[in-house]
Amino acid sequence: MRAADVTSHAFGATVEARPDPVIHVFIEADAGGRRPARANTQRIRQASDRIRQLDRAVDRQRGVMTTNLLSLPRDQRLAGRTAIVTGSSSGIGEAIAHVLAASGAHVVVHGRDVDRAEAVAAAITGGGGAASVVTGDLAESPAAARAFAAQAAEALGGWVDVLVNNAGIFPIGPTPELSDDDVAALLATNVRVPHDLVGALAPGMVERGSGAIVNITSWMAHVGTPNVGLYPATKSALEHLTQAWAAEFGPRGVRVNAVAPGATLTPGNASALEILKMMTAVSPAGQPGRPIDIAHAVRFLASDEASYIHGQVLSVDGGIVAARVG
Ligand SMILES: NC(=O)c1ccc[n+]([C@@H]2O[C@H](COP(=O)([O-])OP(=O)(O)OC[C@H]3O[C@@H](n4cnc5c(N)ncnc54)[C@H](OP(=O)(O)O)[C@@H]3O)[C@@H](O)[C@H]2O)c1
Repeated sequence: MRAADVTSHAFGATVEARPDPVIHVFIEADAGGRRPARANTQRIRQASDRIRQLDRAVDRQRGVMTTNLLSLPRDQRLAGRTAIVTGSSSGIGEAIAHVLAASGAHVVVHGRDVDRAEAVAAAITGGGGAASVVTGDLAESPAAARAFAAQAAEALGGWVDVLVNNAGIFPIGPTPELSDDDVAALLATNVRVPHDLVGALAPGMVERGSGAIVNITSWMAHVGTPNVGLYPATKSALEHLTQAWAAEFGPRGVRVNAVAPGATLTPGNASALEILKMMTAVSPAGQPGRPIDIAHAVRFLASDEASYIHGQVLSVDGGIVAARVG
């Protein structure tokens, strides 16, 4: 079965209206960023269980051990840097937050769900990393996104070195049937929010003469798929913004790039493992990706190792767009 044949709604996420405005919850952000925070064992256990469940689901079909986010090798690649990862209470963003923290960055963990965001941050700080939590619905309004940017920068000590625009939603369905609410939420979450955050945070990076922005797009932006029209279009828009922002901010020291994940098993689509397996069966990798696969690429683009890379989209998709093996 080709990816283009997949027409099910099964991997669409539901969009929930959440009443909370941006809330600032600050936990255990020790100034040096190295001292393990007091262990919040229950929260760490919750985060560990979730990670292990997803890892086991991929393991079963890969037949290989996956990387445990809770015991990542540590290094100094991002030592002294600060990073915001939107949507890091879950899935790909959660892995990105862990990986950036393992390389020494002080990370703002974010999502709408306060408990899950706190659990992720507790797991990071429990392992010796530095994490703060700032939660809120970014799609609610441009003012909410800008308030989040200000609060996250404050939590990080006043400056932001790395912004990862990861929060995203993926409701799909036949074009005539996509609800007005889904259309509005897709455009707001996947396009307007990154635009608002870059508008709020890039000037500070420019002022300091350095910064890295990584946008999370999708393999689906690179292939037409029936009944999945607007979601990939929002990611195409973000890829264009990646190039435009590289041109706008690159000459002033801020690198802007993107990572386009392939079909990756996360809480957002965990109920559709069989569909993910079918979609990826004909790709060179032959199986769904892991959040950590995406996180490693983000860390590379955020680090000085990528200092000559501007305006690129790095596909981490198991070759699903480039090749067919069946
Ligand atoms: N999984 C894949 O196969 C795949 C493939 C290609 C691209 N991607 C992209 O990768 C990114 C992450 O996907 P995922 O699979 O990891 O999704 P996920 O498990 O559903 O996680 C999405 C994250 O975004 C947050 N979020 C969503 N809407 C938000 C809003 N309005 N305000 C604040 N936070 C919001 C969620 O927060 P709460 O849950 O706490 O509310 C959660 O932390 C998305 O941009 C997605 O389009 C995913």
